[in-house]
Amino acid sequence: MKQLTVLGLESSCDETAAAVVTSDREILSNIVLSQTEEHAPFGGVVPEIAARAHVTQMDRLVDKAMKEARISYGDLSAVAATAGPGLIGGVLVGLMTAKAIAAVCDIPLIGVNHLEGHALTVRLTEKTAFPYLLLLVSGGHSQLLIVEGVGKYKRLGTTIDDAVGEAFDKTAKMLGLGFPGGPAVEKAAANGDATRFSLPRPMKGREGCDFSFSGLKTAVRQTCEKLGPEVDKQDIADLAASFQKAAVESLMDRVGNALDEFKDLFPEGESLVVAGGVAANQFLRKQLEALSSSRKINLVVPPPKLCTDNGAMIAWAGLERLQLGQTDPLDLAARARWPLDAEAKPAPYAGYKA
Ligand code: KG4
Ligand code: ZN
Repeated sequence: MKQLTVLGLESSCDETAAAVVTSDREILSNIVLSQTEEHAPFGGVVPEIAARAHVTQMDRLVDKAMKEARISYGDLSAVAATAGPGLIGGVLVGLMTAKAIAAVCDIPLIGVNHLEGHALTVRLTEKTAFPYLLLLVSGGHSQLLIVEGVGKYKRLGTTIDDAVGEAFDKTAKMLGLGFPGGPAVEKAAANGDATRFSLPRPMKGREGCDFSFSGLKTAVRQTCEKLGPEVDKQDIADLAASFQKAAVESLMDRVGNALDEFKDLFPEGESLVVAGGVAANQFLRKQLEALSSSRKINLVVPPPKLCTDNGAMIAWAGLERLQLGQTDPLDLAARARWPLDAEAKPAPYAGYKA
């Protein structure tokens, strides 16, 4: 079969990204420009600032990705871009850029669901067969999905309020650890006593696979208030460690239930896959390793660079769709909300995170 080459664009949150990937599973280029500095003064992502930064950077980034891949536009088989879900201003920037490239080069356009990008990344780096169970944990999403095939997803659980990465980021902000908070909380937690503060394990012991993190966030805030302004480094480390343990234990409980459902529905399923920025957390990885070895399932974690938002995951999902002949018209609309599993019930307080 002829080798296919796809350019992928990502702009649904605070990373502007462009990458070129081939059907031989080669990443010819993968450039990610983070907007951390633009958002840092606000302690979180500001949608308007994100959209403007994507506009400023996208053309330059596409150019760089093409040069680094050492190909010309004539070599492209298709162009893929995130068409949702996410911050709509940003999504529009990537999608419109992709439409312009598709129109000028006369190549197919593929509008990729950002979550599908995360869900299929593992097939770019490892030969992971369908079906597999996916734990997607990032700043924008917390979901458990059965990936049955391209475009075939069964959502077992989602957050009913905040995403887990968001809880890490908000905890970091309360502890004065900066943004993005996940790595900072993990670093501080390394010197902390995780048993000092008693925090809730949201949803633990409950039926189903949904997540909730807003109650844990509130408990961290109340603990901060009790400690008062005179906190020292040890207090911060202990609270970071206590939070991390509570969040991860809550995740483990949910993954345990999801494994039961997965095994019931697909006894032949062999793998548990983890994706999203929070998958970089070493404490989470260790707990997942222990759980998967006790449950006799193969744990697959793509490299951290491909777990966090990037263009290669969009190019790869585009490639998988292109190979199935699934392309989109040039009037494809961007979508702020776009659940992977259309039959799953909406989670009312989760917005685009569900
Ligand atoms: O996948 P990602 O880059 O972007 C989104 O789609 O949101 O994930 C970013 C999230 C942030 O909330 C960040 O704090 C979190 O992943 N994160 C971590 C770690 N590294 C990044 N959370 C916990 N521990 C980490 N080491
Ligand atoms: Zn993402």
